[in-house]
Amino acid sequence: MISQLMSEMINRQINAELWSAYLYQAMSLDLESKNLSGMAKWFSVQAQEELQHAHSLEAYLNGQNAKVELFAIDKVPTSWSTPLEMMEAALDHEMAVTEMINNLMKQANKEQDFATQHKLMQFVDEQMEEEALFHSMVYKFRETQRNPCLTRILDQQMHSRKLEQKIQGRAEHWL
Ligand SMILES: [Fe+2]
Repeated sequence: MISQLMSEMINRQINAELWSAYLYQAMSLDLESKNLSGMAKWFSVQAQEELQHAHSLEAYLNGQNAKVELFAIDKVPTSWSTPLEMMEAALDHEMAVTEMINNLMKQANKEQDFATQHKLMQFVDEQMEEEALFHSMVYKFRETQRNPCLTRILDQQMHSRKLEQKIQGRAEHWL
């Protein structure tokens, strides 16, 4: 059993993960409309990963006999002027999510809630990976600004991204 406050904070995180899925799906759709279907696929996979994060936290709350509340999802931006600007916005968003996870972890530590700390470690790991990934993508996108011919090559490369079951796989262990 977890505290009421911890449960509320995790419910807010579920909403943030769903908002992330909305954001990345909007990015995917914007790229698709600009005929960059490989980049669109990459962001669509990212959106699915965010849904996994939300589902994993839902499963955790259920397992702790706490109520899952699905709050309304705020509107997301719908267009970006360049793919680079989009990727920079995505990196900023991931850094903000890391801050949210850190705040959850601070509360779990304060409450000596060891189960939630253990669960959140998956997300700490995930955010380390996400920030490294998005940093490297920003770097690649900056190169396309200098050399626009690389845009098509990068678009083709990004098409190969496949959905991984990282967080969800570990979450099943909890049930
Ligand atoms: Fe996430």
